[in-house]
Amino acid sequence: MKSPSPCILIIFGASGDLARRKLIPALFDLYRLKTLPQPFCVLGAGRTSIDDLEFRQRVEESILEFSDPKPTSLGEVKEFCRFFHFQSMDLNKDGFLKLKDRLNLLESQTNIGGNYIFYLSVPPSSYETIINGLGEEGLQKEISCTHCWRRIIIEKPFGYNLDSAIRLTRGIRKVFREPQIYRIDHYLGKETVQNMLVFRFANGIFEPLWNRNYVHHVEITSAESNGVEGRGGYYDTAGALRDMVQNHLLQILGVIAMEPPSSFDPDAVRNETSKVFTSLRQIQPEEIDRSVVRGQYTDSVLNGKRVSGYREESLVAKGSRTETYAALKVFVDNWRWGGVPFYIRTGKRLPTRVTEVVIHFKPTPHFLFAKESRESSGLNQLILRIQPNEGILLKFGMKIPGSGFRVKNVNMDFHYSELSEQRVPTAYERLLLDCMLGDGTLYARGDAVEACWRFIDPILDAWENNPELKIYGYRSGTWGPREANDLFADHGVEWRYPCKNLVDDGEVCEL
Ligand code: BG6
Repeated sequence: MKSPSPCILIIFGASGDLARRKLIPALFDLYRLKTLPQPFCVLGAGRTSIDDLEFRQRVEESILEFSDPKPTSLGEVKEFCRFFHFQSMDLNKDGFLKLKDRLNLLESQTNIGGNYIFYLSVPPSSYETIINGLGEEGLQKEISCTHCWRRIIIEKPFGYNLDSAIRLTRGIRKVFREPQIYRIDHYLGKETVQNMLVFRFANGIFEPLWNRNYVHHVEITSAESNGVEGRGGYYDTAGALRDMVQNHLLQILGVIAMEPPSSFDPDAVRNETSKVFTSLRQIQPEEIDRSVVRGQYTDSVLNGKRVSGYREESLVAKGSRTETYAALKVFVDNWRWGGVPFYIRTGKRLPTRVTEVVIHFKPTPHFLFAKESRESSGLNQLILRIQPNEGILLKFGMKIPGSGFRVKNVNMDFHYSELSEQRVPTAYERLLLDCMLGDGTLYARGDAVEACWRFIDPILDAWENNPELKIYGYRSGTWGPREANDLFADHGVEWRYPCKNLVDDGEVCEL
């Protein structure tokens, strides 16, 4: 494994939720694996008025609460906390001067040599101010030190629509060059998403079948059993399409549908996923209601307990029409995928938490065993399970032993948990390390983000401008509005349900 060069990681928003739950535990894991650079330090930056010791106390709490597996000793945690420092600052000229002085001081104390990663773990409304503040102090400039690098990691959402994404990219590029920009999409950091690249391009078996000649349709599902969990304020302005589809699920589609890159070089890989995004067939306004279904969870009783509907969540508008469920039929207009529908769905408060891709292969041209078996459809599915129970499952027909020729669907499966000696690293662990190594393969590139918005924008516009386009209610604990099955009208199939509805009556109502 390559080792990253020494660097300072500057986290804006270091006392926020993302840092506490994900970034700090990921850094702790890298520390335990001895993969952190040496020397290395983290400088938390923000308005909070705390000093290094108070910050270290918070870091310790976050590790004790969120690290998995738990630390083996408090001594190990305390040792790790010594990497952490805090600079209290306002986001103004004076604040960025303070930041610059503090970085110079840390450098002189640690001999790090000028490599910085700026991590923006703050609401998008602060991006511009921070980026400009860094630019005014020349903190992004790689010429201000010898052989050093400066990088910036930006969290999603990358814009609110196409226009704002273009403005955001322009704003960042006034200060940073594209190779310095790392747009984090944590789904690309998931081990199982990366494994799709290996599965496709390290094996000869499936690649010849991976096209319109053999694939009937593809399903991409990301279901969550949680509701908006205290994030109603953000979520009500975003909705499922912006929150999950524009980024995570289209990135998965990119990996599934891409052509083999010429090498595993970051740009070669990202050129191929970008081509998928530019090949997405735009959904025309008059087709929206046949190609996209949106829904919103309503209240329900789960395990004897009432759960609230979306409109009752805090910071959600009473008459909100924000979708907590979205299902789409998408086509990738190129030679490999011409005519193959990709069905994408995501939703909150569904019966379970599962993210998976299902490749449905075409049935045999003539089913010889029809007299004795009804199981002709549903044969030959390849299920790439992203989470939980990470693994790969191949479904195919087998003869039931005994007289006659009755066919039964059986599974051939692989579970990551069987690689018991290997711990599956978290997405943030992998992505932070890649950024330190200067490897942007698993980060989203500006042109790809814009291409995804170009596809999503007309749907959002149609929803905003045509109140007659329906939003369906679905009971919490069910698989979303029944209307989502109408997307399959031309194909005579339906969604795969990894488990049953939690409530029997999946009643549908128009909101
Ligand atoms: C985030 C979304 O990007 O991804 C959340 O903002 C969503 O709404 C989350 O819950 C899902 O991530 P994961 O890794 O738990 O599947």
